[in-house]
Amino acid sequence: MADLKERVLELKRQRKAVILAHNYQTAEIQEVADYVGDSLGLSYQAQATEAEVILFCGVHFMAETAKIVNPGKIVLIPDLNAGCSLSDSCPPEDLAARLNSYPESKKPYVVAYINCSAGVKALSDVICTSGNAIKIVKQVPADRDILFVPDQNLGEWVTQQSGRAMELWQGNCYVHIEFTHQSIVRIRQEFPEAPVVAHPECTRAVRLLADEVCSTEKMVSYCRESEAKAFIIVTESGMLHRLRRELPEKTFIPGPTDHCACADCRYMKMNTLEKMVSALETLEPQIHLTPELLERARLPITRMLEWSRN
Ligand code: 13P
Ligand code: SF4
Repeated sequence: MADLKERVLELKRQRKAVILAHNYQTAEIQEVADYVGDSLGLSYQAQATEAEVILFCGVHFMAETAKIVNPGKIVLIPDLNAGCSLSDSCPPEDLAARLNSYPESKKPYVVAYINCSAGVKALSDVICTSGNAIKIVKQVPADRDILFVPDQNLGEWVTQQSGRAMELWQGNCYVHIEFTHQSIVRIRQEFPEAPVVAHPECTRAVRLLADEVCSTEKMVSYCRESEAKAFIIVTESGMLHRLRRELPEKTFIPGPTDHCACADCRYMKMNTLEKMVSALETLEPQIHLTPELLERARLPITRMLEWSRN
C-alpha cells in the first residue's frame, strides 16, 4: 500500500498532474489527493487548476464535468466504468423526448443536478449540486416552470426549502434510498445525543428525522461548528473517512440501512490505487467528448458557477 501511494505521488509529479477526489473515495485515495471535496468544490477546483493533467477520482459524470470546464486538459479517471445509478436514471434521449412533448410556449426551464451525463447537461439550462441547489433554483426566472432532473428526493427537498414548485424527474440514488425511517430511528435510540446528518438524496422519511440535511462538504463544516461530540452520518461510507481525518476529536457513527452499516457506492469504490498508477503511466482512460457536446454542456455549468457565487 505504501509503495503504491509513493508510486502515485511520483507519477503525479512526472505528469504535472493534479489529483481531485470525491469525499466518497477510499481512505487511501483521499490520502494521496491534492483536493478532496464535494461535487461543487471539485467543479471549482477543476476550473481553476493549472495542472496539465487532471486525475479525477470519483465517478464518470464528475470527470466529465472537469473535462467540460477544462476542455484543453487531459482528464483521466481510474476506472471508466465508474458510473452512477442516478445519472443512469435519466438517459439524454428520454429527457429530449420529454422536452419535445411540451408546446414551445410551455417548455420548462431545466435544472439538472450535476449527477447526470454530459448529454443531459447539454439539454439543461442550469446545473446545480447538493451544495447550491436551493440557491440556484431561487434564481430561475419566476415566470418559468421548472423541470428538475434526475433526483426526485433532492428535488423534493429543494422545493420544500425554496418554496418553488417543480416538476420532478423520477430518478434516485440506489445507495441513499437504502436508508429507511426504521433504520435511522433505531440508531437514534442507541445514540440519542448524536445529531443525524443526512444527504438530500435520502428519502423524505429519512430527511424528516435529520437535524441537518446537506451536501457532503457542508457535513464537514456542520460537524466542526456543532458542539455535539458524536454524529450519525447518513450517506455513503467514504464520508466517514473524510470526517474522521478532519475532526479526529469527534465520533462519527455510520447511518445504517435495514441490512448493514456499510453504505458503499459500488461505482465510487471501483477506483483503486493500482488503477491510479496505471492511468498516470498510460494516460488512459481519458474522458473524450465531442466539441459540440463540450460547448453545449459548458453553458449550464458556467451559469451554475456564476450563480453559485451570487
Ligand atoms: P455531493 O455533491 O454532496 O458530494 O454528492 C455527490 C453524490 O454523488 C452524492 O451521492
Ligand atoms: Fe451516484 Fe449514488 Fe454513487 Fe452518488 S452515491 S455517485 S448518486 S450512485
